[in-house]
Amino acid sequence: MIKKLQKRSWAEPYKMKMVELLKQTTRGQRSRAIKAAGYNTFLLKSEDVYIDLLTDSGTNAMSDRQWSALMLGDEAYAGSNSYYKLEKAVQKFLWLQIFSAHTPGRGAENILSRILIRKGDVVPGNMYFTTTRLHQELAGGTFEDIIIDEAHDPTNEFPFKGNVDLEKLTRLIKKHGAKKIPYVSIATNVNMAGGQPISMKNLKELRKFTKQHGIRIIHDMTRVAENAYFIQQREKGYEKKSVKDIVKEICSLTDGATMSAKKDALVNIGGFMATNEWDVFEEARNLVVIYEGLHTYGGLAGRDMEAIAVGIEESLNDRHQQARIGQVEYLGQQLESYGIPIVKPIGGHGVFVDAKAFLPHLTQDEFPAQTLAAELYIESGVRTMERGMVSAGRKPNGENYYPKLELVRFTIPRRVYTQAHMDVVAESAAAVFARRNKIRGLKVVYEPKYLRFFQARFERK
Ligand code: F0G
Repeated sequence: MIKKLQKRSWAEPYKMKMVELLKQTTRGQRSRAIKAAGYNTFLLKSEDVYIDLLTDSGTNAMSDRQWSALMLGDEAYAGSNSYYKLEKAVQKFLWLQIFSAHTPGRGAENILSRILIRKGDVVPGNMYFTTTRLHQELAGGTFEDIIIDEAHDPTNEFPFKGNVDLEKLTRLIKKHGAKKIPYVSIATNVNMAGGQPISMKNLKELRKFTKQHGIRIIHDMTRVAENAYFIQQREKGYEKKSVKDIVKEICSLTDGATMSAKKDALVNIGGFMATNEWDVFEEARNLVVIYEGLHTYGGLAGRDMEAIAVGIEESLNDRHQQARIGQVEYLGQQLESYGIPIVKPIGGHGVFVDAKAFLPHLTQDEFPAQTLAAELYIESGVRTMERGMVSAGRKPNGENYYPKLELVRFTIPRRVYTQAHMDVVAESAAAVFARRNKIRGLKVVYEPKYLRFFQARFERK
């Protein structure tokens, strides 16, 4: 039968120039590999992985322009030309004036937390992120979640689940006083909520409110371009604005930022901190020489800074974001078509499967998300990661956090996989879904002190 034209599809705004060959393993090999890895997908060797959806961090494919920029890297110890190019890109596109370069994003988080947080301070934020909260705690602060309640409900389809609940912030100010709050920590496209955006309207209200109380907004801009794309698609008045302009507007509503360039900025390593406050910058510039390197490279090679500068610009292209988010949406729709429970709306950097709903016979202490990630790997060599109780870790007093969301993240690297890979992933998940009732949970056999999800080991119950 001849098909009637019903829609016009988008396609990736690039073509392939080089490919990396993948290895496939047998089920027996995978069962042995995951057992040896303590049922933790972070401890697998990547050569044993077929399709790697562990993270979108540092796993992006660089463009030919980025690869050629690497050759221009100025590796001078001091005053590298590449540093000034990156500084220019941050000033032009991200609207923050002064910045320091750091190896990954958490290097920037360490420095900024040390500068701004005093013992006993409270740091409110739109949901925690693992490394960000730990640096806030190590600096003597306590993180308080002020994201809207909708963000904790995987089935709620509110389009801006990254929004801040100003009532929650008001209560914190009443309880502790504005002086105890050095800044509000705002992430764009909130990772732990499932890659969910904050709206411009909410950010503007927050800006007005924090100005009244003399509190800074520090922006984790790791996925700011993806957030801007959602604003363009979903927020009234932004339909005709470019991702580039929306990013600029977001950044103009903040006082400083940390960024892991390994995500939106399309590189394999690097990050930075940026601020509009000269005092904060001076202290950062001084601290960076203790922990990372001179302030004109901060632990990065000149070539890395060149690639980030180009990557920032490429990430702000509307068609790039359409294809990027479009691919994530495609995978989400495939999973849903098999009845697999996912976080709605489908997020920016990956699809988050609701492990509590997938494996309802397991209690949270049996680690449903950790279990599901291990089963997916055994099924087909697809590597995903846990974003639930293991990632949430322990409070400073040693008690477990019990997050409402118990998720498995299918994170999609940018410009790396095809729709056919997404089909294979969805079919693998469907095969696990078909045998879900027989799946047993896990117990912990080893747990490191910090960020346990990276290195903890488990056994089957
Ligand atoms: N902030 C957010 C929102 C992140 O997602 C990450 C890293 C960081 C900060 C830290 O950056 O890795 O360069 O030190 N997220 C990775 C992930 C690890 O898989 O979500 P980094």
